[in-house]
Amino acid sequence: MRKPLIAGNWKMYKTPRESLSFLDAFLPLVVRHNRDELALFPPMTSLGYVLDACARSNVSVGAQNMHWLNEGPYTGQTSPTMLSSIGCSHVLLGHSELRLYFGETDERVNLKLKAAIKHNFSPIVCVGESEADRNAGKTEQTLRSQICTALRGVSAEEADRLVVAYEPVWAIGTGSTANPHVAAEAHGLIRHELGRCCNQALAGKTRILYGGSVKPENISALMQQEEIDGVLVGGASLDPQSFSKIVHYT
Ligand code: PGA
Repeated sequence: MRKPLIAGNWKMYKTPRESLSFLDAFLPLVVRHNRDELALFPPMTSLGYVLDACARSNVSVGAQNMHWLNEGPYTGQTSPTMLSSIGCSHVLLGHSELRLYFGETDERVNLKLKAAIKHNFSPIVCVGESEADRNAGKTEQTLRSQICTALRGVSAEEADRLVVAYEPVWAIGTGSTANPHVAAEAHGLIRHELGRCCNQALAGKTRILYGGSVKPENISALMQQEEIDGVLVGGASLDPQSFSKIVHYT
């Protein structure tokens, strides 16, 4: 009932030329693949090129971040209207690297989520505990507060297209993926929280992706978990062969 979503987050990698050569190799490898939804999140300078190249394909394209206002004196920021004007359909919000290095807060994620809904984007809200949180037994508390603050003032109807990505900070870019059972447990917790903050219908239909060192070698075990509705892939989405192996998991 929840169609899996396989998303690639390119972070600060690839020039426009490199992005297009990735697509030359990747799009033929996934043509007609419709078991899962596919999405790519290139860096801002590649976004327009990737949107054009993916226009008639089965791959959706989104931005890695956005401001919540439509315009203003905010150097370096990109607004929802700017993104929708170039045909962007998805947006990542609250990625842990933004939280860690650029002071992203749950309150801002909430403002951005509301703006994304207003502009009809499909938002992917990233949550996840740090290693210190996990070791201190605070995983549940952290995930609960990230979800509830992000969804403050958002109704279940408005959150219709919401996707949540569970990305434990200790698993991102480290090569050590969460054990699929540990990930599934966290997904269960997030789903429970969605039910408490919005309602059960939303909790039942919202896709929760796992992210953190997803590779061709571990995708199958992750996707076997009923609670895992797809993946958000960083490093392994940069290479067309490895990302296509992830897409074709069995
Ligand atoms: P990774 O990144 O797959 O390189 O661990 C995942 C992410 O940050 O979205």
